[in-house]
Amino acid sequence: MNFKTLAIHAGHNPQEHLGAVMPPIYHSSTFAFRGVGKPGPFEYSRSGNPTRRALESCLAQLEKGTAGFAFATGMAAETTLLMLFSPGDRILVQDDLYGGTYRLFDAVFAKKQVCADYVNLGDSSKLRSALAAHPKAVWIETPSNPLMTLVDIRAVSDLAHEFGALVICDNTFLSPYFQNPLELGADIVTHSTTKYINGHSDVVGGALVVRDAALAEKIGFLQKVLGAVAGPQDCYLVLRGVRTLAIRMEEHHRNALEIARWLEKHPAVSRVRHPGLESHAQHDLAMRQTRGSGGTFSFHLRGGEEAVKRLLSNCRIFTLAESLGGVESLIQQPSTMTHASIPIEVRLKMGITSDLVRVSVGLEDVRDLIADLEQAL
Ligand SMILES: Cc1ncc(COP(=O)(O)O)c(C=O)c1O
Repeated sequence: MNFKTLAIHAGHNPQEHLGAVMPPIYHSSTFAFRGVGKPGPFEYSRSGNPTRRALESCLAQLEKGTAGFAFATGMAAETTLLMLFSPGDRILVQDDLYGGTYRLFDAVFAKKQVCADYVNLGDSSKLRSALAAHPKAVWIETPSNPLMTLVDIRAVSDLAHEFGALVICDNTFLSPYFQNPLELGADIVTHSTTKYINGHSDVVGGALVVRDAALAEKIGFLQKVLGAVAGPQDCYLVLRGVRTLAIRMEEHHRNALEIARWLEKHPAVSRVRHPGLESHAQHDLAMRQTRGSGGTFSFHLRGGEEAVKRLLSNCRIFTLAESLGGVESLIQQPSTMTHASIPIEVRLKMGITSDLVRVSVGLEDVRDLIADLEQAL
Protein backbone atom coordinates (compact mmCIF):
# COMPACT_ATOMS: atom_id res chain seq x y z
CA MET A 1 0.00 0.00 0.00
CA ASN A 2 1.12 3.57 -0.62
CA PHE A 3 1.73 6.18 2.05
CA LYS A 4 -1.63 7.98 2.02
CA THR A 5 -3.52 4.69 2.27
CA LEU A 6 -1.27 3.34 5.02
CA ALA A 7 -1.59 6.56 7.04
CA ILE A 8 -5.34 6.03 7.15
CA HIS A 9 -5.58 2.25 7.54
CA ALA A 10 -2.34 0.84 8.96
CA GLY A 11 -2.54 -0.58 12.46
CA HIS A 12 -6.32 -0.81 12.69
CA ASN A 13 -8.81 -3.46 11.56
CA PRO A 14 -12.42 -2.35 12.27
CA GLN A 15 -13.59 -5.99 12.39
CA GLU A 16 -11.50 -6.52 15.54
CA HIS A 17 -13.30 -3.61 17.27
CA LEU A 18 -17.06 -4.11 16.72
CA GLY A 19 -16.71 -2.39 13.32
CA ALA A 20 -15.41 0.88 14.79
CA VAL A 21 -13.84 2.80 11.91
CA MET A 22 -11.54 4.72 14.26
CA PRO A 23 -9.42 2.81 16.81
CA PRO A 24 -11.22 2.89 20.17
CA ILE A 25 -9.44 4.46 23.15
CA TYR A 26 -8.74 1.62 25.59
CA HIS A 27 -8.70 3.42 28.92
CA SER A 28 -7.91 0.27 30.84
CA SER A 29 -4.81 -0.13 32.95
CA THR A 30 -5.17 -3.91 33.08
CA PHE A 31 -6.66 -6.74 31.00
CA ALA A 32 -8.41 -9.95 32.11
CA PHE A 33 -6.56 -13.24 31.70
CA ARG A 34 -8.39 -15.96 29.75
CA GLY A 35 -7.69 -18.43 32.50
CA VAL A 36 -5.04 -19.28 35.06
CA GLY A 37 -1.67 -18.95 33.33
CA LYS A 38 -3.43 -17.87 30.11
CA PRO A 39 -2.94 -14.18 29.36
CA GLY A 40 -4.76 -12.59 26.42
CA PRO A 41 -2.96 -10.37 23.87
CA PHE A 42 -2.69 -7.59 26.47
CA GLU A 43 -1.99 -7.84 30.20
CA TYR A 44 -1.15 -4.42 31.58
CA SER A 45 -1.07 -1.06 29.77
CA ARG A 46 2.56 -0.25 30.55
CA SER A 47 3.66 -3.33 28.59
CA GLY A 48 0.99 -3.02 25.90
CA ASN A 49 -2.28 -1.26 25.17
CA PRO A 50 -4.48 -1.78 22.08
CA THR A 51 -4.71 1.94 21.20
CA ARG A 52 -0.96 2.33 21.61
CA ARG A 53 -0.41 -0.84 19.60
CA ALA A 54 -2.48 0.62 16.72
CA LEU A 55 -0.31 3.76 16.68
CA GLU A 56 2.93 1.78 16.98
CA SER A 57 1.99 -0.47 14.11
CA CYS A 58 0.96 2.49 11.95
CA LEU A 59 4.21 4.39 12.59
CA ALA A 60 6.31 1.27 11.94
CA GLN A 61 4.67 0.84 8.53
CA LEU A 62 4.97 4.53 7.61
CA GLU A 63 8.68 4.51 8.50
CA LYS A 64 9.22 1.24 6.57
CA GLY A 65 10.28 -0.53 9.75
CA THR A 66 9.06 -3.71 11.40
CA ALA A 67 8.45 -2.47 14.95
CA GLY A 68 7.34 0.84 16.45
CA PHE A 69 7.27 2.08 20.05
CA ALA A 70 5.25 5.06 21.31
CA PHE A 71 6.40 7.18 24.25
CA ALA A 72 5.06 9.99 26.41
CA THR A 73 7.27 12.61 24.67
CA GLY A 74 10.04 12.77 22.11
CA MET A 75 12.54 13.11 24.99
CA ALA A 76 11.07 9.99 26.66
CA ALA A 77 11.74 8.10 23.41
CA GLU A 78 15.32 9.41 23.32
CA THR A 79 15.91 8.62 27.00
CA THR A 80 14.66 5.07 26.57
CA LEU A 81 16.85 4.68 23.50
CA LEU A 82 19.96 5.90 25.33
CA MET A 83 19.36 3.31 28.04
CA LEU A 84 20.52 0.74 25.45
CA PHE A 85 24.04 1.96 26.18
CA SER A 86 26.36 1.22 29.12
CA PRO A 87 28.82 3.29 31.13
CA GLY A 88 31.94 3.84 29.03
CA ASP A 89 30.05 3.80 25.72
CA ARG A 90 30.58 6.80 23.46
CA ILE A 91 28.18 8.14 20.86
CA LEU A 92 29.14 10.36 17.94
CA VAL A 93 26.63 13.15 17.76
CA GLN A 94 26.10 15.67 15.02
CA ASP A 95 27.48 19.02 16.22
CA ASP A 96 24.26 20.86 15.32
CA LEU A 97 21.07 19.49 16.80
CA TYR A 98 17.96 20.10 18.92
CA GLY A 99 18.89 21.77 22.25
CA GLY A 100 16.91 19.28 24.33
CA THR A 101 18.87 16.35 22.88
CA TYR A 102 22.13 18.19 23.59
CA ARG A 103 20.95 18.78 27.18
CA LEU A 104 19.97 15.11 27.59
CA PHE A 105 23.49 14.05 26.61
CA ASP A 106 25.37 16.72 28.54
CA ALA A 107 23.30 17.20 31.70
CA VAL A 108 22.10 13.63 32.22
CA PHE A 109 23.85 10.84 30.32
CA ALA A 110 27.40 12.27 30.59
CA LYS A 111 27.07 11.80 34.37
CA LYS A 112 26.30 8.14 33.75
CA GLN A 113 29.40 7.82 31.54
CA VAL A 114 27.42 7.52 28.30
CA CYS A 115 29.17 10.36 26.54
CA ALA A 116 28.59 12.29 23.35
CA ASP A 117 31.45 13.29 21.06
CA TYR A 118 30.28 16.10 18.79
CA VAL A 119 31.43 15.93 15.20
CA ASN A 120 30.58 17.50 11.87
CA LEU A 121 29.01 14.50 10.15
CA GLY A 122 29.37 16.24 6.79
CA ASP A 123 33.16 15.98 7.02
CA SER A 124 33.93 12.36 6.11
CA SER A 125 37.59 12.44 7.14
CA LYS A 126 36.67 13.79 10.62
CA LEU A 127 33.89 11.21 10.83
CA ARG A 128 36.25 8.40 9.82
CA SER A 129 38.83 9.35 12.45
CA ALA A 130 36.11 9.72 15.12
CA LEU A 131 34.77 6.27 14.17
CA ALA A 132 38.23 4.80 14.62
CA ALA A 133 37.72 5.27 18.39
CA HIS A 134 34.84 2.76 18.06
CA PRO A 135 31.80 4.66 19.31
CA LYS A 136 28.73 2.50 19.82
CA ALA A 137 26.46 4.72 17.72
CA VAL A 138 26.18 7.78 15.50
CA TRP A 139 23.33 10.22 16.15
CA ILE A 140 21.99 12.13 13.14
CA GLU A 141 19.39 14.87 13.01
CA THR A 142 18.53 15.90 9.45
CA PRO A 143 17.58 18.59 8.72
CA SER A 144 19.07 19.94 11.92
CA ASN A 145 17.16 22.18 14.28
CA PRO A 146 17.39 25.19 13.79
CA LEU A 147 20.19 25.58 11.22
CA MET A 148 18.66 23.30 8.58
CA THR A 149 21.93 21.47 7.90
CA LEU A 150 21.48 18.14 6.15
CA VAL A 151 23.37 14.93 6.83
CA ASP A 152 23.83 12.36 4.08
CA ILE A 153 22.15 9.43 5.86
CA ARG A 154 23.32 6.84 3.32
CA ALA A 155 26.97 7.95 3.39
CA VAL A 156 27.15 8.24 7.20
CA SER A 157 25.36 4.90 7.69
CA ASP A 158 27.70 3.05 5.32
CA LEU A 159 30.76 4.43 7.08
CA ALA A 160 29.35 3.90 10.60
CA HIS A 161 28.46 0.29 9.80
CA GLU A 162 32.03 -0.36 8.58
CA PHE A 163 33.08 0.42 12.16
CA GLY A 164 30.23 -1.53 13.76
CA ALA A 165 28.34 1.54 15.05
CA LEU A 166 24.55 1.78 15.14
CA VAL A 167 22.97 4.69 13.29
CA ILE A 168 20.20 6.66 14.97
CA CYS A 169 18.29 9.30 13.03
CA ASP A 170 15.88 11.93 14.38
CA ASN A 171 13.29 12.28 11.61
CA THR A 172 11.05 14.78 13.42
CA PHE A 173 11.44 17.65 10.96
CA LEU A 174 10.45 15.84 7.78
CA SER A 175 8.25 13.01 9.08
CA PRO A 176 8.08 9.69 7.21
CA TYR A 177 6.16 11.43 4.43
CA PHE A 178 9.26 13.23 3.18
CA GLN A 179 12.14 11.03 4.41
CA ASN A 180 12.65 7.39 5.42
CA PRO A 181 16.01 7.02 7.22
CA LEU A 182 15.66 3.23 7.63
CA GLU A 183 15.62 2.87 3.84
CA LEU A 184 18.79 4.96 3.67
CA GLY A 185 20.68 2.71 6.09
CA ALA A 186 19.80 4.02 9.58
CA ASP A 187 19.07 1.41 12.26
CA ILE A 188 16.77 3.41 14.55
CA VAL A 189 14.45 6.32 13.79
CA THR A 190 13.39 8.64 16.56
CA HIS A 191 10.49 11.10 16.46
CA SER A 192 8.89 13.79 18.47
CA THR A 193 5.32 12.96 17.38
CA THR A 194 4.41 16.24 19.09
CA LYS A 195 5.37 17.86 15.79
CA TYR A 196 4.20 16.99 12.26
CA ILE A 197 3.03 13.44 12.94
CA ASN A 198 0.31 14.65 15.31
CA GLY A 199 0.25 18.04 13.65
CA HIS A 200 -2.32 19.87 15.77
CA SER A 201 -0.27 21.13 18.75
CA ASP A 202 -2.49 19.31 21.23
CA VAL A 203 -0.31 16.35 22.28
CA VAL A 204 3.27 15.69 23.35
CA GLY A 205 4.54 12.32 22.22
CA GLY A 206 7.50 10.40 20.88
CA ALA A 207 8.30 7.27 18.92
CA LEU A 208 11.08 4.90 17.92
CA VAL A 209 10.99 2.65 14.85
CA VAL A 210 13.42 -0.14 13.93
CA ARG A 211 13.75 -2.96 11.39
CA ASP A 212 16.02 -5.38 13.20
CA ALA A 213 14.25 -7.98 15.38
CA ALA A 214 16.99 -8.09 18.05
CA LEU A 215 16.93 -4.29 18.43
CA ALA A 216 13.13 -4.36 18.56
CA GLU A 217 13.26 -6.86 21.40
CA LYS A 218 15.73 -4.76 23.39
CA ILE A 219 13.75 -1.53 22.91
CA GLY A 220 10.45 -3.28 23.68
CA PHE A 221 11.96 -4.55 26.93
CA LEU A 222 13.23 -1.08 27.91
CA GLN A 223 9.89 0.51 27.02
CA LYS A 224 8.09 -1.87 29.35
CA VAL A 225 10.64 -1.68 32.16
CA LEU A 226 11.22 2.10 32.13
CA GLY A 227 7.53 2.82 31.51
CA ALA A 228 7.74 6.21 29.74
CA VAL A 229 4.89 5.11 27.47
CA ALA A 230 2.27 7.16 25.63
CA GLY A 231 -1.21 7.05 27.17
CA PRO A 232 -4.19 5.76 25.15
CA GLN A 233 -5.88 9.18 24.78
CA ASP A 234 -2.68 10.69 23.36
CA CYS A 235 -2.19 7.70 21.05
CA TYR A 236 -5.69 8.20 19.72
CA LEU A 237 -5.04 11.88 19.01
CA VAL A 238 -1.77 11.10 17.25
CA LEU A 239 -3.53 8.42 15.18
CA ARG A 240 -6.18 10.96 14.22
CA GLY A 241 -3.47 13.44 13.24
CA VAL A 242 -1.42 10.96 11.24
CA ARG A 243 -4.37 10.26 8.94
CA THR A 244 -3.90 13.68 7.32
CA LEU A 245 -0.08 13.75 7.51
CA ALA A 246 0.42 13.49 3.75
CA ILE A 247 -1.83 16.37 2.74
CA ARG A 248 -0.64 18.52 5.63
CA MET A 249 3.03 17.97 4.73
CA GLU A 250 2.40 18.87 1.10
CA GLU A 251 0.75 22.13 2.11
CA HIS A 252 3.37 22.93 4.80
CA HIS A 253 6.03 22.42 2.12
CA ARG A 254 4.30 24.64 -0.45
CA ASN A 255 3.62 27.49 2.01
CA ALA A 256 7.10 27.40 3.55
CA LEU A 257 8.92 27.36 0.23
CA GLU A 258 6.89 30.31 -1.04
CA ILE A 259 7.67 32.30 2.11
CA ALA A 260 11.37 31.33 1.97
CA ARG A 261 11.59 32.54 -1.63
CA TRP A 262 9.89 35.81 -0.65
CA LEU A 263 12.20 36.31 2.36
CA GLU A 264 15.27 35.69 0.20
CA LYS A 265 14.45 38.85 -1.74
CA HIS A 266 13.58 40.96 1.31
CA PRO A 267 16.15 43.70 2.08
CA ALA A 268 15.91 43.12 5.87
CA VAL A 269 16.95 39.47 5.52
CA SER A 270 20.62 38.52 5.19
CA ARG A 271 20.28 34.73 4.75
CA VAL A 272 17.53 32.13 4.44
CA ARG A 273 18.25 28.55 5.53
CA HIS A 274 15.83 26.32 3.63
CA PRO A 275 17.04 23.11 1.92
CA GLY A 276 14.40 23.49 -0.81
CA LEU A 277 16.04 26.73 -2.04
CA GLU A 278 18.64 26.45 -4.79
CA SER A 279 20.83 28.74 -2.63
CA HIS A 280 21.07 26.13 0.17
CA ALA A 281 24.56 24.59 0.12
CA GLN A 282 23.08 21.08 0.32
CA HIS A 283 20.17 21.54 -2.08
CA ASP A 284 21.40 18.61 -4.24
CA LEU A 285 21.47 16.30 -1.23
CA ALA A 286 17.95 17.47 -0.31
CA MET A 287 16.75 16.56 -3.79
CA ARG A 288 18.37 13.12 -3.52
CA GLN A 289 17.48 12.18 0.04
CA THR A 290 14.10 13.78 0.69
CA ARG A 291 10.80 14.18 -1.10
CA GLY A 292 10.08 17.65 0.29
CA SER A 293 11.21 20.17 2.90
CA GLY A 294 8.31 20.43 5.34
CA GLY A 295 7.25 23.67 6.98
CA THR A 296 10.14 24.64 9.25
CA PHE A 297 13.13 26.78 8.31
CA SER A 298 15.19 29.65 9.63
CA PHE A 299 16.58 32.99 8.49
CA HIS A 300 18.92 35.75 9.68
CA LEU A 301 18.02 39.44 9.91
CA ARG A 302 20.47 42.17 8.90
CA GLY A 303 19.40 44.30 11.88
CA GLY A 304 20.58 41.70 14.45
CA GLU A 305 18.92 41.06 17.79
CA GLU A 306 16.94 44.36 17.85
CA ALA A 307 15.39 43.59 14.47
CA VAL A 308 14.52 40.08 15.66
CA LYS A 309 12.78 41.46 18.77
CA ARG A 310 10.79 43.88 16.60
CA LEU A 311 9.74 41.16 14.19
CA LEU A 312 8.68 38.77 16.96
CA SER A 313 6.74 41.48 18.78
CA ASN A 314 4.91 42.70 15.69
CA CYS A 315 3.66 39.43 14.19
CA ARG A 316 -0.11 39.02 14.37
CA ILE A 317 -0.72 35.67 12.70
CA PHE A 318 2.59 33.96 13.50
CA THR A 319 2.42 33.12 17.21
CA LEU A 320 5.54 33.63 19.34
CA ALA A 321 6.03 30.10 20.64
CA GLU A 322 8.41 27.14 20.73
CA SER A 323 7.60 23.85 18.96
CA LEU A 324 6.71 23.30 15.32
CA GLY A 325 4.69 21.12 12.99
CA GLY A 326 1.16 22.27 13.86
CA VAL A 327 -1.50 23.70 11.56
CA GLU A 328 -0.86 27.20 12.96
CA SER A 329 2.25 29.23 12.13
CA LEU A 330 4.80 29.82 14.90
CA ILE A 331 7.85 32.06 15.11
CA GLN A 332 10.69 32.08 17.64
CA GLN A 333 14.28 33.09 18.37
CA PRO A 334 16.29 29.87 18.96
CA SER A 335 19.08 31.60 20.97
CA THR A 336 16.65 32.72 23.71
CA MET A 337 14.02 30.00 23.39
CA THR A 338 14.45 26.42 22.05
CA HIS A 339 18.26 26.45 22.19
CA ALA A 340 18.81 28.62 25.28
CA SER A 341 19.88 25.52 27.26
CA ILE A 342 23.04 25.20 25.12
CA PRO A 343 25.98 27.14 26.65
CA ILE A 344 26.48 30.40 24.76
CA GLU A 345 30.01 29.60 23.53
CA VAL A 346 28.79 26.26 22.09
CA ARG A 347 25.74 27.93 20.59
CA LEU A 348 27.83 30.59 18.86
CA LYS A 349 30.25 27.97 17.57
CA MET A 350 27.27 26.09 16.14
CA GLY A 351 26.06 29.27 14.41
CA ILE A 352 22.94 29.86 16.51
CA THR A 353 23.34 33.62 16.68
CA SER A 354 20.89 36.17 18.06
CA ASP A 355 19.95 37.39 14.54
CA LEU A 356 18.47 33.95 13.77
CA VAL A 357 14.70 33.41 13.57
CA ARG A 358 12.97 30.05 13.13
CA VAL A 359 9.49 29.71 11.68
CA SER A 360 7.13 26.78 11.60
CA VAL A 361 4.89 27.62 8.67
CA GLY A 362 1.34 26.39 9.18
CA LEU A 363 -1.59 25.83 6.89
CA GLU A 364 -3.07 29.34 6.84
CA ASP A 365 -3.43 31.14 3.49
CA VAL A 366 0.14 31.90 2.44
CA ARG A 367 -0.86 35.41 1.29
CA ASP A 368 -1.91 36.26 4.86
CA LEU A 369 1.34 34.83 6.23
CA ILE A 370 3.49 36.89 3.85
CA ALA A 371 1.45 40.02 4.62
CA ASP A 372 1.98 39.38 8.35
CA LEU A 373 5.76 39.05 7.99
CA GLU A 374 5.86 42.08 5.71
CA GLN A 375 4.12 44.38 8.18
CA ALA A 376 6.18 42.97 11.08
CA LEU A 377 9.50 43.39 9.29
C1 LIG B 1 14.18 17.53 16.42
C2 LIG B 1 13.54 17.30 17.76
N1 LIG B 1 13.75 16.12 18.38
C3 LIG B 1 13.21 15.86 19.59
C4 LIG B 1 12.42 16.80 20.25
C5 LIG B 1 11.86 16.47 21.61
O1 LIG B 1 10.51 16.16 21.54
P1 LIG B 1 9.42 16.44 22.70
O2 LIG B 1 9.35 17.92 22.88
O3 LIG B 1 8.18 15.81 22.16
O4 LIG B 1 9.91 15.77 23.93
C6 LIG B 1 12.17 18.02 19.62
C7 LIG B 1 11.34 19.04 20.29
O5 LIG B 1 11.29 20.18 19.90
C8 LIG B 1 12.75 18.28 18.35
O6 LIG B 1 12.56 19.44 17.71
